[in-house]
Amino acid sequence: MYKDQIKNFNYALFGNPVNHSQSPKIHDYFSKQTEIFHIYKAINIPLNKFSLIVSNFFKNNIKGANVTSPFKKEAYFFSNKLTKRAKIAQSVNTLKKLNDSCILGDNTDGIGLLSDLNRLKFIKKNFSVLILGAGGAVKGVLLPILSLGCKVYILNRTFSNALKLVNQFNQYGNIQVFKKSDLKDSFFDLVINGVSRNIQFNSEIPIHLFSSKTFFYDMNYSSKNTYFIDYCIRLGSKYISDGTGMLVFQAAYSFLNWHNILPKTDYIINILNKK
Ligand SMILES: NC(=O)c1ccc[n+]([C@@H]2O[C@H](COP(=O)([O-])OP(=O)(O)OC[C@H]3O[C@@H](n4cnc5c(N)ncnc54)[C@H](OP(=O)(O)O)[C@@H]3O)[C@@H](O)[C@H]2O)c1
Repeated sequence: MYKDQIKNFNYALFGNPVNHSQSPKIHDYFSKQTEIFHIYKAINIPLNKFSLIVSNFFKNNIKGANVTSPFKKEAYFFSNKLTKRAKIAQSVNTLKKLNDSCILGDNTDGIGLLSDLNRLKFIKKNFSVLILGAGGAVKGVLLPILSLGCKVYILNRTFSNALKLVNQFNQYGNIQVFKKSDLKDSFFDLVINGVSRNIQFNSEIPIHLFSSKTFFYDMNYSSKNTYFIDYCIRLGSKYISDGTGMLVFQAAYSFLNWHNILPKTDYIINILNKK
């Protein structure tokens, strides 16, 4: 099955599931815009077959790939060489074939999120940031946020996963597991949701620490509002965004890694947002 597919494209997205991914459409726009031959397909990989199948793709036509849930950690171990940001995140969303025996692993989620937060004017130096979730996506975005001097609080269903993340990143800035006693006399400037889509929000969320100026960003995206976006609307928040912009920017930085050109992104974000 895979052999026939390989002949028709040279870049791919590997994940499970991938059927609703917007990435092939985004990369099609980039290819047309830059006039670079870049045919990108989403490939669903069986859960226990990542290394076997992906190494076969790289032995054939594939020159680069994005990796999505649940394989970012496996992609990190699969890579023969890592960029600094992928090494720190211990999570890889971009693979590039350097030669027959060397695959480079990179992580563009962080630069993707930061670029979108800057576009929206949702982030400033030294902000207090609450991050919901402690999975692969959050790992990818912590370094640029901490590098801005932001104070980061992690709130996650499984406390031990939040603690692991804090221990992994506390050498890069001010990060801690959220406790009810935090921020006694102030509010969060920014709340980022990195919990998987369609998770209902519960009483653990510290809404007393949100103000009318708090920015809300959902890394998830969907043609319909996510639970998080609906939740923020019900709270009466003025500043809310989903993760469409992050998706386009992380794709643009993967494209830069593969082709040394950073494609234009704003018009693609507008097209996807209209839908
Ligand atoms: N916009 C973009 O470009 C972009 C890029 C990357 C990711 N994303 C999105 O970000 C989301 C997270 O991705 P990921 O790769 O980090 O996934 P992941 O590694 O599977 O992590 C999932 C996170 O969600 C939490 N969670 C899962 N089920 C939950 C539940 N029922 N109740 C409460 N918490 C729950 C997990 O908590 P535990 O630790 O307790 O399991 C973990 O913190 C995905 O939906 C993905 O589509 C978007």
